[in-house]
This record gives sequence, C-alpha cells and structure tokens, in this order.
Amino acid sequence: MASASSLILVTGGAGFIGSHTVDRLVADGHRVVVVDDLRTGKRANLAQHGALSFAAGSPVELVVADVSHGLFAPLAAVTAAHGPIARAIHLAAQVSVVHSLANPLVDVAVNYVGTVQVLEYARAAGVKKVAFASSAAVYGDTPVVPVVEDAPCRPLSPYGVDKLASELMLGAYAATHGVAATPLRFFNVYGPRQDPSSPYSGVISIFADRARAGKPLTIFGDGQQTRDFVYVGDVARAVVAAAMADGGDGTAMNIGTGRETTVRQLAEIVVGLAGTGVAISHAPARAGEIVRSLAAVERVRATLGWQAEVALADGLARTLG
Ligand code: NAD
Ligand code: UD1
Repeated sequence: MASASSLILVTGGAGFIGSHTVDRLVADGHRVVVVDDLRTGKRANLAQHGALSFAAGSPVELVVADVSHGLFAPLAAVTAAHGPIARAIHLAAQVSVVHSLANPLVDVAVNYVGTVQVLEYARAAGVKKVAFASSAAVYGDTPVVPVVEDAPCRPLSPYGVDKLASELMLGAYAATHGVAATPLRFFNVYGPRQDPSSPYSGVISIFADRARAGKPLTIFGDGQQTRDFVYVGDVARAVVAAAMADGGDGTAMNIGTGRETTVRQLAEIVVGLAGTGVAISHAPARAGEIVRSLAAVERVRATLGWQAEVALADGLARTLG
C-alpha cells in the first residue's frame, strides 16, 4: 500500500470521474497531482480543494497540460519540489464515441498515444502502479450477457479500439518493463458533475437535466434496451482500490453493478423522483443501438474485493440533487 502522503497522479482529474477520484484520494489523506488540459474538465469540479496548489496549502496541485505531449516536462517542477509520483491513475481521454468516428486520428493521438506517454513516464520514473480507465466499448455488440472479461472484443469505433490497444500496451509494459498495471472497463457511469450538454452525453445526465427543467424525457426506441448503470462514487472507489493494490499484469476488469436496467425503467424512476409531472416522450431508435449491456462482476470482486454499493434509485436521487 502507498503511504498516506505519497504523491498520486490523476490524469483527467478535472473531469467527471476524475474529480470524484480526487475527492476520494484526498479523503484518504493523499496529495494528488492532476494533469488535465481542461478540454472537457473544469477547475470548478475541484473547487472544494481550494487553490489547487501545494504551495498554497491545497492537497491538490493542478498542472494544465496535454498528456499526449508527454508528462516529463509538465511534472518536472512539482516532483522536484514534492517528491516522486508513487502511483498513477490515467483517466484523461477524448470521451466521445461519436467524435472518434468523425476524427479517428485525434482519438489515436489522445487516447492511445496519451496512454503510452503515461506508461513511458511510469517506466522512467519508477511509478509503482498504473490504473487505467478503459470502457465496455471494447466489447462492441456482445451477443451474450452478462459479458465476462474473456469474451471476444470486437470494438465498433476508434474509441473502443484505442481503449483496447491501450489495455494491451499496459499488459506489454507489465510483462516487459515490470510496470504494474490494471485496466478497468467502466460500464455506464453516472452521477453529479456529469456534463449533459451534448446529445451524446450519458442518458442519466440528460434525463436529470431535463427533469430539473420540467421538460419531457425522450426515450429512443421502445425503451426495452438495457444498460448497467454504475454510480460515480462507486467507480472512484474501484479506481482508487486498483491504484493502491500492488501488482497487476494488465488483466482487465469490468466495473459495473451486475444489474440490468431498461431505459424505460430508468425514465420512470427519474419521473418519480422529479415529482413535477415530467412527461415521457418517444423518438426513433438510435442507429447501431446496443440492445443489452450488462457486466459480469466476479473478477473485480475476487481480485480487488470491490463491488458496487449505491442502488440506482439512491444514485439518481443524489444526481438530481
Ligand atoms: P470527462 O470528459 O469528464 O473527463 C475526461 C477528462 O480528461 C477531462 O477533464 C478532460 O479535460 C481531460 N482530458 C481530455 N483529453 C486530455 C488530454 N489530452 N490531456 C489532458 N487531459 C485531457 O469524462 P469522464 O466520463 O469523467 O471520463 C473519464 C474516463 O473514463 C475517460 O477515459 C473515459 O473514456 C472513461 N470512461 C467513461 C465512461 C462513462 O460512462 N462516463 C464509460 C467508460 C469509460
Ligand atoms: C455509448 C456512448 C455514446 C455512443 C454509444 C456507441 C456514453 C455516455 N455514450 O452509448 O456516445 O454513441 O456508446 O456505442 O458513453 N437514450 C435515450 N434518450 C436520451 C439519451 C439516450 O433513450 O435522451 C438511450 C440510448 O438510446 C441508449 C441508452 O439511453 O439506449 C444509454 O445511452 P447513452 O447514455 O448514450 O449510453 P450508450 O448507449 O451506452
């Protein structure tokens, strides 16, 4: 285990999942270096940690930089003054599947090259562990649910390919250079601070935003499609557990609840919580819609002792605020 005062690197720490991860690390007594270029992340997500500078007494130091350009220069000053990075959590990414289809080279540069940059830094700087945000998108459209980690991976987008390639590179660095590493395949993560602004934002962020404004929730298709919705606080706990556990040969683990929810059930719970007569409307199904998505969760339970704890209705209540 890392000592409570070790420096922990969180790339993408100003984002949705990243900022909850930073909150958890700080609560555990760690000092955290965030590297984020703020393309989708926000300083406001970390405002609870003060000036975001160790020199000013904050437990968090924010370094604004692009991970795909390398970490040696951005981290030089902070590590010279405060000691080495003990463990790294790599969450920074171009997060839109749709954007990756239109701009595959950007996705490769940020999501694949960015991961290799983190691994190169970890190798040279003697970082003890790398935990990495992969995605259920590596599986593509799986015919069998719940999906186990050993199921065939047939990603349907550059985003999914770059996540899978990153996982493989973690395995290669573990085998060849002894960099301990664990990829975590997040299913559909939701909770406070998730950005609802794009039509491709997570459905829960969109439903919560619309319910608060008294607007109807639009279900695409018949609403019988399912997802495994996992609360961001649970995900942050899994990420920290993976980063703090020694060892890791690049074997991926699903991060989900093991429970399947239809989009219709989801809409009905949100309507019930909103309590303002919010309506449900229908629109045509999305092209290429995945019909069922559900994580098998035995591996992460056996390896890290982690399981999701927040029930969907509770997580939705926290999200609606
Ligand atoms: P987010 O957009 O809130 O977080 C991504 C963060 O990375 C942002 O703060 C952004 O500014 C930063 N970033 C992007 N490119 C960067 C770069 N080149 N250099 C430095 N910083 C950069 O999204 P999120 O949902 O919190 O996603 C976090 C991670 O989890 C991502 O790797 C994403 O692919 C993965 N993931 C998320 C979900 C989900 O349901 N939200 C599901 C599967 C995987
Ligand atoms: C994920 C990506 C999405 C990408 C898709 C392709 C996220 C948050 N989304 O979608 O960008 O295109 O993989 O593999 O990572 N829904 C509605 N109404 C809405 C919004 C969504 O009914 O207003 C439905 C969708 O049709 C889907 C479900 O809700 O059935 C979940 O949608 P979403 O949150 O976008 O996640 P994924 O479908 O997993």
